[in-house]
Amino acid sequence: MTVIKMDIEKIKEDRKKWMTWKNIAPLREAVDSLKEKECSTKLGDVVEVFGDCDDSKIYDVAKMLMPWRKGPFKIGKTYIDSEWKSNIKYNLLRPHFHLKNKRVADIGCNNGYYMFRMLEDEPKLLVGFDPSPLYKTQFDFVNHFIKSDIVYELLGVEHLAFYDEKFDIIFCLGVLYHRSDPVAMLKSLYKGLDKKGEVILDTFYIDGDEEIALCPQSSYSKIPNIYFVPTIKALKNWCLRAGFCGFEVLETSVTDAGEQRKTEWIEGHSLEDFLDPQDKTKTVEGYPAPQRVYVRLIKDKK
Ligand SMILES: C[S@@+](CC[C@H](N)C(=O)[O-])C[C@H]1O[C@@H](n2cnc3c(N)ncnc32)[C@H](O)[C@@H]1O
Repeated sequence: MTVIKMDIEKIKEDRKKWMTWKNIAPLREAVDSLKEKECSTKLGDVVEVFGDCDDSKIYDVAKMLMPWRKGPFKIGKTYIDSEWKSNIKYNLLRPHFHLKNKRVADIGCNNGYYMFRMLEDEPKLLVGFDPSPLYKTQFDFVNHFIKSDIVYELLGVEHLAFYDEKFDIIFCLGVLYHRSDPVAMLKSLYKGLDKKGEVILDTFYIDGDEEIALCPQSSYSKIPNIYFVPTIKALKNWCLRAGFCGFEVLETSVTDAGEQRKTEWIEGHSLEDFLDPQDKTKTVEGYPAPQRVYVRLIKDKK
């Protein structure tokens, strides 16, 4: 068997160059040009910064950083009404975790909305992984005001096993269906955990008692990179095959236009354009409309 060892420091060093891409460099300059100000924060459904902020520039810089998929945020007088009301997912999961003094990772953290919310628990360490220079720049913009010590790595789930820290709890929300090898992804999460660690994960699922998965031909709900949408039984089998001992369904939900919709902070379309206009229980491709299952995965027997 070949064991591939990744040089994470080299990958991180190489990825710093992504910030100089011609579509990203002007955004970095705009964020870097914001003045240092003392602001207060309120970490509720809206992640909010208020006080003596640099209001004259905030709206313009936030607009440059579009599209804002996750949020909402309010920075000074600028309300960033993101496509997703991410507070709905966060509040659904909130009764299911405690992060005080724990080492926490959020894999596929996007602009860090959930991590900003998690600060309320005072974790020992909070690390976000997301290989998107745009979303990292959105994070840096918000964190310019919040000044948290969250670590944001421009890395993917595939790097987690080689990261120099193990985690007590890993969140991996809305990523599994984007992976062409879901069991390999689950194995990476397993390896990223410390001995008594757990994962909180969500994914699209289809109804049914069979151990099967939907394999969309080219898109699902107009999202091109969706590979597998399992039944809950198939999802459980993937998790057991990846090595997890425990699998607990925490919640299920159906996404509606109250949670995901077009706002002035994204270009293009949103949920209402992704469902069959005659039958909202189907996607435009004729597949079952998106619904999510939220699960807890336990690494080892206690
Ligand atoms: C559908 S969004 C989910 C965002 C957030 N976790 C949520 O549940 O609202 C998927 C995120 O995964 C990120 N992503 C893309 N490739 C990834 C990878 N290889 N590893 C981890 N995250 C990745 C994207 O940049 C994006 O922010």
